[in-house]
Amino acid sequence: MKIKQTEFVISAVGPAQYPESGLPEVALAGRSNVGKSSLINKMLLRRNLARTSQQPGKTQTLNYYRINGDVGELYFVDFPGYGYAKVSKSEREAWGKMIERYLRGREPLKLVLQLVDLRHPPSADDIRMYEWLSHYEIPMTVVATKADKVSRSQWQKHMKIIRQSLGMPGHVPLLLFSSETGQGREELWSLIEQSAAL
Ligand code: GTP
Ligand code: MG
Repeated sequence: MKIKQTEFVISAVGPAQYPESGLPEVALAGRSNVGKSSLINKMLLRRNLARTSQQPGKTQTLNYYRINGDVGELYFVDFPGYGYAKVSKSEREAWGKMIERYLRGREPLKLVLQLVDLRHPPSADDIRMYEWLSHYEIPMTVVATKADKVSRSQWQKHMKIIRQSLGMPGHVPLLLFSSETGQGREELWSLIEQSAAL
């Protein structure tokens, strides 16, 4: 997809703030620091539209970005990361409620990108998230990030561990991605265009 225009729309804490345009939505889930915001920036070829930082647990709302591309319009919805140790139990519960309400009730949601770090086996939280999305039959793609940090000869091995740990059936796509090199960007756009019927 050729990007014509992008804009940050809103940091939403609940349904009252979700946009009403009905445009398709693609949400990004994954643990804190896995590279969700970086992936958005790379997909849009914008250096710093989605805020990234070294400091985990930064994004605490559902952040909507509106994308106008040559084949159609959609939103990316950046989730707060999970699995950050310094978050209190009540914050974790609030996070869970917000995400669950969005994922189960959001009609324009077309696809969830679940991000996992290619370098490491999926965490317990990754596995829970994957199982939860599968259980509710939410369309999803798993994206293995930071591919530039793993040598090419190790990619297949790491991908296999991810597939096995998550229990991914063959039809669920697993994509390699790097926000550093742009690897996987074209493939991911094709998948998003298909899922969002752009
Ligand atoms: P939260 O908002 O805290 O949930 O984190 P996030 O998932 O949005 O992660 P973010 O995009 O902020 O990236 C975290 C750190 O990882 C930053 O220092 C990024 O520069 C780095 N990073 C993200 N993606 C990649 C990648 O593909 N390759 C490399 N080498 N570094 C990456
Ligand atoms: Mg982020």
